[in-house]
Amino acid sequence: QSRYTGLLDRYRDRLPLSDDTRLISLGEGATPLIRLHNLPKVLGRSVDIYVKYEGLNPTGSFKDRGMTMAVTKAVEEGSKAIICASTGNTSAAAAAYAARAGITAFVIIPDGKIAMGKMAQAMMYGATILQIRGNFDDGMRLVKEVAEEAPVTIVNSVNPYRLQGQKTAAFEIIEELGRAPDYHCLPVGNAGNITAHWIGYCEFSATSGDHVTESCAYCNGKCPFAGGGSGGNRPKMVGYQATGSAPFMRGEMVDDPDTVATAIRIGHPQSWDRAWKVMEESGGWFAEVTDAEILAAQRMLTQHEGIFCEPASAASLAGLINDLEAGKIQDGSSIVLTLTGNGLKDPDTAIGQCTGEMPGVEKATMVTIDADLDSVRNAILGFMK
Ligand code: F0G
Repeated sequence: QSRYTGLLDRYRDRLPLSDDTRLISLGEGATPLIRLHNLPKVLGRSVDIYVKYEGLNPTGSFKDRGMTMAVTKAVEEGSKAIICASTGNTSAAAAAYAARAGITAFVIIPDGKIAMGKMAQAMMYGATILQIRGNFDDGMRLVKEVAEEAPVTIVNSVNPYRLQGQKTAAFEIIEELGRAPDYHCLPVGNAGNITAHWIGYCEFSATSGDHVTESCAYCNGKCPFAGGGSGGNRPKMVGYQATGSAPFMRGEMVDDPDTVATAIRIGHPQSWDRAWKVMEESGGWFAEVTDAEILAAQRMLTQHEGIFCEPASAASLAGLINDLEAGKIQDGSSIVLTLTGNGLKDPDTAIGQCTGEMPGVEKATMVTIDADLDSVRNAILGFMK
């Protein structure tokens, strides 16, 4: 068996790569698909829930899948600099893969609204950071405008190579489960990732030879599933948005998005049309979750399963809990949740959750004691009572 060297090499035949493309990789992909043992019981449901723990990618989020592909192609096409707008994770991934490739990364981030771990990453990997007095959507508009005038390659998910890389998560899931789950739930910001997963599921299911690189979401009718309908090895796709940043629920763009899950603080999704098409084709739906539900779900995953994801990722579990309660997802179903980012990305929110700063949330168990045996013994015996 050969050494695993990343998803581009693993899925080379299903990606727009040639034999002599120089791959820019950090060994991303092949993330664990973990079956939840305790939460179904806690929730009182007989469902099979798996989480795809994308927080274990090299920079701690699913963005690495897209970035290895986008940066590989940028370098192949002779680009010397990449640029992105970001709520944090894309900037971390762009900075890392640019460093790996030896090119320059410019990242535009909303002033004060990105999690501390992501900021540390962008700085350490050596990106040039442009902090704007505006939000992600402002940054995205500026990136598109400036790329018209400056020699920089956009590596946001409007770059089609990003989705090509990200579709491989669906391949891994089918390979591991032997089939697609009944439902695949994930948090939605720009809706690039939900689209990418759908491309992956469709491609895996497609039998026709000419359907190799594009999805039925935008294949101009070439895909065997174009126009919708069931068939193939494909789940219903379910996208969850935070209530304060839920343009898909409002049915229109949101100008002043807000949520504790800063990763998905997005009001003008870039893959708007495609995501609606995904819903139409897969028979899935969008739903919204409150910040309190997101934080509660994040805590449930850590405390019942030992899995630490960032708040945006926990939106997938929060939404699932609601949909199970509402009977939209029935007992007996198999469900995959994408946990998009690592919990260590956002230590402030995590610690805030555990120090009583957040209303309705139980404090972490922590006492400060003297450094002697009596104090330690008494503390332990006190807690065991
Ligand atoms: N979860 C996390 C942790 C994210 O960082 C993002 C997007 C999403 C979910 C939503 O994915 O946009 O494809 O629907 N983060 C981008 C960024 C916007 O800049 O890091 P999407």
